[in-house]
Amino acid sequence: MKIGILISGRGSNMAAIVEAVQSGLIPDSEVIAVISDKTSAEGLIKAKERGIDTLVISRNGRTREEHDAEVVTELKKRNVELVCLAGYMRLLSSEFIRAFPNRITNIHPSLLPSFKGLNAQQQAIDYGVKVSGCTVHFVDEALDHGAIILQKTVAVLDDDTAETLSARILEHEHALYVEALTIIVKRNFEILGRRVIFR
Ligand code: GRF
Repeated sequence: MKIGILISGRGSNMAAIVEAVQSGLIPDSEVIAVISDKTSAEGLIKAKERGIDTLVISRNGRTREEHDAEVVTELKKRNVELVCLAGYMRLLSSEFIRAFPNRITNIHPSLLPSFKGLNAQQQAIDYGVKVSGCTVHFVDEALDHGAIILQKTVAVLDDDTAETLSARILEHEHALYVEALTIIVKRNFEILGRRVIFR
């Protein structure tokens, strides 16, 4: 399966996916391109170091629809079949989502549907939950809302800060995203309403 990864920053999930594809852990796949909306994204360097083509498509004052149209064109030009959001800090337009039906995934650092949006780890601490975690899900038109593929729980400790909790969750994000993509690439699932059922 031809995979395209969208990033905006550090790119540690992107690097984990690339390494899993290159080692064959995610089988029969190729990461075709890493696209960032930010020239400064550290992940661009990580992608180049791993031999992956990179592209920066900045917003440049354009509307979401105009920007997304260019991203979709570049992905389609390369025959990308699966789009992985990995710390991509922009909401996708409906046109983008319709261009890749059930073929866009995201990872979010909380147990959805709790703590959507920015600063999910701080939201979890402020709410006082004792467990949080991470979620890999399909992307639909609402923020952090699409059908859930996999989740992993992580303890929230009394002395946690957003930084310590983020680090503990991130340790599990990489493996969880790789596991979810392996299921998708092997087509070992079906979607029933909001439920992703494994075969
Ligand atoms: C991760 O915590 C991910 O869950 C969230 O953004 C962060 C991206 O980190 N969506 P990285 O760029 O993959 O290192």
